[in-house]
Amino acid sequence: ELERTFIAIKPDGVQRGLISEIISRFERKGFKLVAIKITVPSKDIAQKHYHDLKTRPFFDGLCDFLSSGPVIAMVWEGEGVIKYGRKLIGATDPQKSEPGTIRGDLAVAIGGNIIHGSDGPETAKDEINLWFKPEELVNYTSNA
Ligand code: CMP
Repeated sequence: ELERTFIAIKPDGVQRGLISEIISRFERKGFKLVAIKITVPSKDIAQKHYHDLKTRPFFDGLCDFLSSGPVIAMVWEGEGVIKYGRKLIGATDPQKSEPGTIRGDLAVAIGGNIIHGSDGPETAKDEINLWFKPEELVNYTSNA
């Protein structure tokens, strides 16, 4: 099924110069980039983005971290992109993510796991709506 998912390169991924490496992995797989921006998210956006984790002890630190610097916010489109995007990213804890995945290859700590991807169709919809206006999503044909 043709789907869209929200993918963000977090401040640590941007600081470490991993933007092109990460985009390239989604692009080479054959997914289509339909929205992208660089933004320093407000605390409010960060809290809304992570609202499911509100009761966790690391919630405040996580939101502070997300809003601490530039984030690359993206929407990727493709067959099964929500689930497969999570596969490209790898397990949440970089100590448990497989080599070959983005976190497995490029990160070591759960507090610095460099990238976020929506975990299902509902969160994908919510996160895309939180980070983007409808007119920021582009329709085009690609031959990838
Ligand atoms: P992400 O995929 O963005 O979704 C939730 C984030 O919470 C996760 O990546 C981690 O960055 C963060 N997270 C999850 N568990 C912990 C933890 N135990 N300590 C700190 N951060 C965590």
